[in-house]
Formats: sequence, C-alpha cells, structure tokens
Amino acid sequence: MKKFYIETFGCQMNVHDSEKVIGTLLAQGYGQVETPEAADLVFYNTCSIRDKAEQKVFNRLQQFKKESGKGKTFAVLGCVAQQEGERVFERAPHVSLVCGSASYNKLPELLIQLENGNRRVTGLSLDTDETFETPLTRRDNPHRAYITIIEGCDKSCAYCVVPFTRGPERSRTSVSVLREARELASGGYTEIQLLGQNVNSYRDPTPAGWDFATLLRNVGETPGIRRVRFTTSHPRDFCKDIIDAISENPVLCNHVHLPVQSGSTKVLDRMQRLYSRDEYMRRIEWMKASPRNIAITTDIIVGFPGETEEDFEQTLDLLDQVEYDSVFSFKYSQRPNTPALQYADHLPEDEKSRRLAILQERQRQIQIRRNGAYVGTIQEVMVEGFNKATGQWIGRTSQHKTLNFIRPAHGGENLIGSYLDVTVTRAGPNSLVGEAVILN
Ligand code: 5AD
Ligand code: SF4
Repeated sequence: MKKFYIETFGCQMNVHDSEKVIGTLLAQGYGQVETPEAADLVFYNTCSIRDKAEQKVFNRLQQFKKESGKGKTFAVLGCVAQQEGERVFERAPHVSLVCGSASYNKLPELLIQLENGNRRVTGLSLDTDETFETPLTRRDNPHRAYITIIEGCDKSCAYCVVPFTRGPERSRTSVSVLREARELASGGYTEIQLLGQNVNSYRDPTPAGWDFATLLRNVGETPGIRRVRFTTSHPRDFCKDIIDAISENPVLCNHVHLPVQSGSTKVLDRMQRLYSRDEYMRRIEWMKASPRNIAITTDIIVGFPGETEEDFEQTLDLLDQVEYDSVFSFKYSQRPNTPALQYADHLPEDEKSRRLAILQERQRQIQIRRNGAYVGTIQEVMVEGFNKATGQWIGRTSQHKTLNFIRPAHGGENLIGSYLDVTVTRAGPNSLVGEAVILN
C-alpha cells in the first residue's frame, strides 16, 4: 500500500480542505503516515497570505530535496500552488504535482497520471465548485466539524492574494449545507463551524435565495447541535440580522470575528475595504447592544503602504474603543499580483516591526482587563483536551476563550467532547483558569 504524509499551513479553510484530501486519498487505497520520511507521497497544503507563509513550504521542500531521489513524490496543494502554478516546478524541481483548492475533485485522476509515469501534473483551474460535495471527508475531531458554505472571494482588498488563489465566490445550496449539518449531528458532532472567505456574502443558489443570517438561523435549529460558529466575516456585508439571530438563539456562539485591518478611514480606502471606520463602528455597536455579551475579535495589518504615524494612532485608538477580546495582528507583506504592490510609499521593515510591537502590547493590556472581568463567573465549556503537565482540562467557552480547569473528585473518565460548567478563578491575557462546578 502506498503511504502519504500531509502537512497543512494556513487558515481553517485549508485545514478543512486537507480533511477532504485525506478522505479522498484513503478512498483511493493510500494509507496515512505521521512523518514525511515514512511516506511515498508527501503533500504540503500551503498558504500564501504573507511572504513568510509561502517561504515555509519552499523551506520544507528544500529540506527533502535529497529524499526525492529515493522514490518519494512531492505534491504542493493550496494557495501557493494556485498562485505559483507551474513556477513551483522551477522553484522546487523535485515536485511532481501542483494542485489548487478548486481542483481537488481532480486529485484521483492526477494521481493516476503520476502512477502512469507522468513526471509533472497540475490541477490549476479555478472554475469548479465540485469540492462542496465531499462525502469522503475524513474529519480530524469527533466533536467539532467544519462545513464549507461559500468558496472564493469577490472583493479586491489591495493587499490580498485570496481572490487569485481561491477564485470567485461560489455559494453552496442551503439544502446541501443543512443535509451535512444533520448528518454531522447524527454522527455525534455537537459543534459546527461554518466556513468561507466571506461568509456574509453567502447567497443560496436555490430559489429560496437565503442570505447568511437565514442560513445561520436554520443551521442553529439542527437537533443535536449545541454550538454553531462561523468565520470569516467582511464588515461591508455584515448585517444586523446576524446579531439578531445570535441574540435569539444561544446555540449560535456569542463570538464574532470581524477583521477591521486598520482604524484609519484613509488607510481603509487605500486598502479598498469598502467601509469607513464609522461604518465599522456601527457594526460593533450592534454587537455591544446584544444581551449576549458577544466576544469580538479582529485582524489588523500594520505598516500598510502610506500608513502615517497618525493613521497608526487611529488604529490604537480603535483598539481602546472596541476593546477586542483578541486581535490577530500582522506586518503588511507584499504579495504577487495585488494592487498594493503598485503603491509607491512602502514602509521600512523595522518601522512595521515597531508598530506591531506597540499594538500588541496595547492589546495585551486590554485583554488582561477584559478577561479579568470573567473571574467569579460561571462559563459553559466544551472540553477539548487534557494537559498532562498541569493536570488541567482544556475547555472552550462559547465566546471562544480557552478556559483551563480542574475537576475536583474526578473519577478518571474521559471528559473530552462533553459540556461542563466551570467557575473562572483566574485570568491572563490569553486564557482563563477555573474549577468545574460539582453538582450535588
Ligand atoms: N500582509 C499582511 N497581512 C495580510 N493579511 C492578508 N493579506 C496580508 C498581507 N499581504 C491578513 C489580514 C487578513 C488575515 C487573514 O491576514 O489581516 O484578515
Ligand atoms: Fe492562506 Fe488565505 Fe489561502 Fe487560507 S485562503 S490558506 S489564509 S492564503
């Protein structure tokens, strides 16, 4: 039996794509192994959102250059594959297969071509949506499952490769999404995460024509499903009905990830984000007005071309105003094909680093304050794991906070996948600590 190894970089979309690829390979009779050394076929499912992510895969390939002579086949999947196409063969000549995410349904065929002695095969077409129906998905987690609801992106943010790597938007039918949700529930899953590059622009292609909020409400009604999350959102398409749905149904988790990218309207314009700071803040106000205490997280890019000290100050001010629960922050990275490459006023790397450090320290203080407010409260967690070193269970709250806890008088049974109430006793910038509530 031929053996494969797969390593995944990048976002949840990629993680879920790998689950689909693994299912497909297993169905083709391949066996999965845990190290590239033990494999005949080595797959890298890649990310190209920033230059560093792209470099990672070429470093990995470089590491195994000598192995290629020993009968191993190397395959590059995902966003770098789509972005670089046949150039991957030039940059890493021992690679034999290059395939973007929109072409994964062609993988079995591409593998046959390889077996038949073809030295280099590619799947780079962007005009397919067949990856939606993937009965072969091999899910990694028995309790929490991803469901793709929309692929691709029709926006053209000036810094972003995604429209080039994942193609135009294609929404999946609501019938198909709800069917998968029901199947997952009957398979014992209790949490669903709806995935898309921009879930808010979801538009059901059936005559029902549901928007995202309607789909979300309906997925939230699936018997057996206790938690529904979604990612990622674009402020421009984010409507109030989503917040109303969350306010009305506790199954819909009280967490929204709403990437802002910058607190300066001038920079947002240059980024082609299609909203102003004020419009973004209106959405934050909807969330803050909800009775459900919604956790808000975001993505920020510092050092975008032309970002002045004053623009940066506005981003810091936005952090104070919103008081995010968590922020993913990045230095702007130049990407191939993107409009921002043409801008003349790129910032020096050390200035970007300086701003990033300031921003992260400011946000750390905010998180210490915000998380501190949970001390003394009771939170329901889904148990995700056990940390042997600390003797603590690892739980996740509806707000997506990590809550590490002990369970006194614990009888040794496996709690992973169960839901428990936990009293929060301490808080740090990135997680909470607590003790399970014991019912007498
Ligand atoms: N440089 C830095 N960060 C980027 N992101 C997207 N493109 C770039 C880039 N060229 C960030 C954005 C996005 C997150 C997934 O990655 O903040 O929301
Ligand atoms: Fe990376 Fe974006 Fe591709 Fe996800 S969609 S793997 S974040 S480039």
